[in-house]
Amino acid sequence: MNNDPVRDVEEIRSAFRRRLDEVAGVPALIQEVRHEFLGRSRGRLTALLKTLKDLPPAQRGALGAAANQLRTEIEDGLASALQSAGGPAGATGRAIDTTLPGTSFPIGTAHPLTLVRLAIEEIFLGMGYTVEDGPEVESDHFNFTALNIPADHPARDMQDTLYLEGGGLLRTHTSPVQIRTMLKTRPPLKIICPGRAYRRDAPDATHSPVFNQVEALAVGHGISLADLKGTLHEMARRLFGPRVRVRLIPSYFPFVEPGAQFDVSCFVCDGDGCRTCKRSGWIEMGGAGMVHPAVLEGVGYDSEEWTGFAFGCGIDRIAMVKYDISDIRLLYENDVRFLEQFRGAGA
Ligand code: DAH
Repeated sequence: MNNDPVRDVEEIRSAFRRRLDEVAGVPALIQEVRHEFLGRSRGRLTALLKTLKDLPPAQRGALGAAANQLRTEIEDGLASALQSAGGPAGATGRAIDTTLPGTSFPIGTAHPLTLVRLAIEEIFLGMGYTVEDGPEVESDHFNFTALNIPADHPARDMQDTLYLEGGGLLRTHTSPVQIRTMLKTRPPLKIICPGRAYRRDAPDATHSPVFNQVEALAVGHGISLADLKGTLHEMARRLFGPRVRVRLIPSYFPFVEPGAQFDVSCFVCDGDGCRTCKRSGWIEMGGAGMVHPAVLEGVGYDSEEWTGFAFGCGIDRIAMVKYDISDIRLLYENDVRFLEQFRGAGA
């Protein structure tokens, strides 16, 4: 190193230019030159800058300015050398092959349960419903008692319900949201509530301890079973196609009277019988009925004045028949090889 540090700057500058000429066109070598001059431990300019602090203040300013200007020059020189060599991606020393496939940055896909939920929400928003939400950790009262499920009903059995320490439980259905909504709203009302529910089931191809349901509730003046059937039919047509029919089969749920199971004619075989409908021509969708007067009275609605219908059905089930998914566990394992098959799918 010279006694005149500003001359050192000049030397480094010409050395840099020489080296840059030598390595022109080869990105890996250009990177080498970066280390030679700007490298933190052995860079020549770095070393010079480190001596700054030992200089008398009078010299320090001039050298600092000159050295910093050179640093900018070196950085610019390296950048343009790299650019004309094909860019930093060619750091292996080879020129870039622009015919190679690019690196893909895949974007996510909507989960099949999300596709079905969004489709259902859209159908019901279009019929004037609002979408409600409710807690997954529930009390015995909302999950059972307020829904007219007596204390000795088998649904309360430890077999079905996941109880939590401290007295709560994981809701076994989305029906408690009916009660929560009625308590905070005056009739008339029309709501749906999609969400998770939990049961003490061992997982297999058709059972999962967590699953998804959508609940619907409409309360108003003169709402009848015909309104229920028409609504179910509209939902089924929109989900499965214009030709499907709906049937109601008498069934028992404590919170509705009369209560029914509702089925949709098979959209695959049109009711002739196939694998999807297990040769029956019908696909079981869920439970439904006219809201039990005891439930209405329990939330302070006059059951002489107001009537309503309700239904609940499994979103998992809809997704499984619609997309021909044979095992419910696939919906909860989140294997991307499964999920990415729904890229661009609609419901
Ligand atoms: N909560 C019932 C279940 O999970 C399904 C159900 C049946 C919901 C009848 C309803 C209904 O709203 O009216 O099995």
